[in-house]
Amino acid sequence: MVSYKDLGLVNTREMFAKAVKGGYAIPAFNFNNMEQLQAIIIAAAETKSPVILQVSKGARNYANQTLLRYMAEGAVAYAKELGWERPQIVLHLDHGDSFELCKSCVDMGFSSVMIDGSALPYEENVALTKKVVEYAHKYDVTVEAELGVLAGVEDEVSAEESHYTKPEEVVDFVSKTGCDSLAISIGTSHGAYKFKPEQCTRDPKTGKLVPPPLAFDVLEGVEKQLPGFPIVLHGSSSVPQEYVDIINSNGGKLPDAVGIPEEQLRKAAKSAVCKINIDSDSRLAMTAAVRRVFNEKPGEFDPRKYLGPARDEMKKLYSEKIKNVLGSDGKAE
Ligand code: G3H
Ligand code: 13P
Ligand code: ZN
Repeated sequence: MVSYKDLGLVNTREMFAKAVKGGYAIPAFNFNNMEQLQAIIIAAAETKSPVILQVSKGARNYANQTLLRYMAEGAVAYAKELGWERPQIVLHLDHGDSFELCKSCVDMGFSSVMIDGSALPYEENVALTKKVVEYAHKYDVTVEAELGVLAGVEDEVSAEESHYTKPEEVVDFVSKTGCDSLAISIGTSHGAYKFKPEQCTRDPKTGKLVPPPLAFDVLEGVEKQLPGFPIVLHGSSSVPQEYVDIINSNGGKLPDAVGIPEEQLRKAAKSAVCKINIDSDSRLAMTAAVRRVFNEKPGEFDPRKYLGPARDEMKKLYSEKIKNVLGSDGKAE
């Protein structure tokens, strides 16, 4: 049994309470490799932003769970080396799909876990979430749950249609499960294709797709039922057009990729939404940088020469998200 406290990590309880009160959101960035982790830590240390390092089941399978855990421990030391005296770093399991997986993460030093029972019938979601909460809380590990279904792929779970969270269910769910935060469905989804072209309008000037607005009425309904309770938004990448264009003009093919406009995320961050999940934008930043090097310098074969620019681009992206979208800069001085 490894306690996250011995690794210098923190759980989400205090940082979420401050974020809800302060009208900003904590960035939750997924990572699977060293360059992503370096970029996240440099950006968080420079901006003094609390940060959540997210590991999906797929990331655990890709990178090895033990290695990822030590990388997170190393990240705390690295943050201090960068001059961030009191880093506030959470190691979080993203989309845990079973009690066993969540337990294994708690036992290995994660400070927060998500149990995603959103695809299950309501009562089964309640029972599974409650079981995870009872175990995690023994070790002061915080638990994120999910109500409502996001369209697209959530690790191995995929849904054709999204089902918005029903505000009338949230009080019952939170009181029965004891979860510490709740992910809701208000129209976001995972990946770089969040809306079908037929759901969007076209900007007459640029010809680019303009997505429909998020269901802020559902968010307001949830906030009314659970005043001050920490709410989480998954699927919150914006799919920056500049990256899509770089990818497409350097041999890639991402037609009609579309994300959540940043103004909508800014609005969400000011509400009870206190954790915003971003993975796809980092994948796009990395892919754009790597494709550009490969296209412009076909003779290059030193990984540092293409992963270095990828890391720089991701760091720029993370810093901009922190400062210009989430507003979490300076909140972990
Ligand atoms: O929610 C999905 C995250 O972007 C993680 O994706 O399961 O491919 O690692 P992944
Ligand atoms: P994006 O695919 O929009 O980056 O969402 C990531 C996410 O929700 C991880 O849980
Ligand atoms: Zn997610």
